[in-house]
Amino acid sequence: MSEPRQILVTSALPYANGSIHLGHMLEYIQTDMWVRFQKLRGNQCIYVCADDAHGSAIMLRAEKEGITPEQLIANVQAEHSGDFADFLVDFDNFHSTHSEENRELSSLIYTRLRDAGHIATRSVTQYFDPEKGMFLADRFIKGTCPKCAAEDQYGDNCEKCGATYAPTELKNPKSAISGATPVLRDSQHFFFKLPDFQAMLQQWTRSGTLQEAVANKLAEWLDSGLQEWDISRDAPYFGFEIPGEPGKYFYVWLDAPIGYMASFKNLCARRPELDFDAFWKEDSSAELYHFIGKDIVNFHALFWPAMLEGAGFRKPTAVNVHGYLTVNGAKMSKSRGTFIKARTYLDHLQPEYLRYYYAAKLGRGVDDLDLNLEDFVQKVNSDLVGKVVNIASRCAGFIHKGNDGMMVAGDAAPELTEAFLAAAPSIAEAYESRDFARAMREIMALADRANAWIADKAPWSLAKQEGKQDEVQAICAQGINLFRQLVIFLKPVLPVLAADAEAFLNVAPLTWNDHQSRLENHSLNAFKALMSRIEPAKVEAMVAASKEDLLAAEAKAPAGNGELAKDPLSAEIEFDTFAAVDLRVALIVKAEAVPGADKLLQLTLDIGDERRNVFSGIKSAYPDPSKLEGRLTMMVANLKPRKMRFGVSEGMVMAAGPGGEEIYLLSPDSGAKPGQRIK
Ligand code: 2FM
Ligand code: ZN
Repeated sequence: MSEPRQILVTSALPYANGSIHLGHMLEYIQTDMWVRFQKLRGNQCIYVCADDAHGSAIMLRAEKEGITPEQLIANVQAEHSGDFADFLVDFDNFHSTHSEENRELSSLIYTRLRDAGHIATRSVTQYFDPEKGMFLADRFIKGTCPKCAAEDQYGDNCEKCGATYAPTELKNPKSAISGATPVLRDSQHFFFKLPDFQAMLQQWTRSGTLQEAVANKLAEWLDSGLQEWDISRDAPYFGFEIPGEPGKYFYVWLDAPIGYMASFKNLCARRPELDFDAFWKEDSSAELYHFIGKDIVNFHALFWPAMLEGAGFRKPTAVNVHGYLTVNGAKMSKSRGTFIKARTYLDHLQPEYLRYYYAAKLGRGVDDLDLNLEDFVQKVNSDLVGKVVNIASRCAGFIHKGNDGMMVAGDAAPELTEAFLAAAPSIAEAYESRDFARAMREIMALADRANAWIADKAPWSLAKQEGKQDEVQAICAQGINLFRQLVIFLKPVLPVLAADAEAFLNVAPLTWNDHQSRLENHSLNAFKALMSRIEPAKVEAMVAASKEDLLAAEAKAPAGNGELAKDPLSAEIEFDTFAAVDLRVALIVKAEAVPGADKLLQLTLDIGDERRNVFSGIKSAYPDPSKLEGRLTMMVANLKPRKMRFGVSEGMVMAAGPGGEEIYLLSPDSGAKPGQRIK
């Protein structure tokens, strides 16, 4: 027997300002399955995570909610922990980057880097919001695109024409926080000298630490030369003050990965058998794996190993990168109800359904994974209920009825026993290399063989015949043994099903090596259904509830932030509020379909002194949009422009009806002129 490995595993730290959704869950489920596999194999495997609690977004959100950042992150941490636990993601520790351990380790790493000459300081000129008294990150500046003149674009790129630029190039810049015109101001910043680590990173990224596609991507950055990395932010900021530099804070991405160490350190205080240094010292023999999405590769495969090297700590053994989640073939969409929060899923469906579906589709590459909701229902029902659980439910009854729950000794299908044993190393190898899809395929192929064998033996027919009782018992005992092996192979993916099966099988918690033994002369407990089929109606209800989540969020959003307002039927309004709405007669100059949008028409509206571009969800009622051209309608002309995927919508036209084909665009009597105010 080889020595158990010592393995420390992390998933990316979720930001403490939003809910976990099924896109996040892909990573946590992937990591959890890998960790559970390692534990099942008898390795010492520790899985840590934390909330990523710092940064201006969290500071501003707390302010908006009228609570302290500490309260906000405590609330979110409770929500996140609940979501993870209910998805059976079994962290050894779920901590926070806003912790004493993280403060100490961040200071330690920074001072070591500084003392070794890896920190530079220089003055940086940036936009400053004079009203709010803070420097503005690019996404908190909005203005007119310098290339295409689209309004309401962010400080670093234009969503309309795709241009990238410096915030100082934006025309008519405004602070997205206060609306004030920002001013340029200088401030001293601290930089991590990443180029000092160029040679190490060239070598490290090509030493088996990364998937090939990821290493190739990084080579593009490495070959074009690395830049120094700005690791400081000015007060006010929610984070850790830089030691010896009052008013300067570590940028959230500096202390976020250090949060992995901090969470582990926090765990060490509770688990005396764990030695922090043994895992993190430069020449540690323990393994360290980070699971992340492809959007944050540079932080984990450039900055982080360089920081660790510069501060005298070990580097990761590997950084395992996965792709994004799509739902029904497209980016998750709030309006389609496919932006599904973890909690909304859990309100309708069992966590193991999704764990299995993700496993069945997760390879070792960085490709995106599609959660096709029809396929999800079909696959889970067919594989888990129709194949795996079916074996036990077919056999258990005969053993209880015919032999008082006692499994007889003897191997009724040596060739199957042999095949199951022979498949185990390959399944283990697939798990080890994170090729969960292959592991699931191989396990289901075994389940198919077991089912075919039982169907061929047809114990239900034999049971009706005289003198066949021994044969029935031998077949069913064999079926249960094969079921038990499948449960072991699936245990990293389906821990609850495994626990329920262990209860039925009347055995101690199964480990990987238990697949080599069998149950003989063994008494079973009563069989109860181990998993029920997914009812498609539950999936539909989940999608409907996700649309409701969106409406609830919109109703909660404070006015003036560009989101939909509260349901107007739910509250009376003052006359002044009504009078503030600028309703105008509008002439539809142009109406066309929007490529890639199912429901939208793009309207060009003449309102007398100007033209407006408006996107309107009325396509289903007007399949030939050109028929609208030349017609008068009514629009809300002073609605805050709303940025959409296809461009900016500058107002809203008014229509009645329940939707679908029944949408009726309102029109004034003849004689009305474009631009006239509706009173
Ligand atoms: O991208 C994100 O969601 C970050 N909160 C991930 C941080 S991972 C680690 F470095 F902390
Ligand atoms: Zn532009």
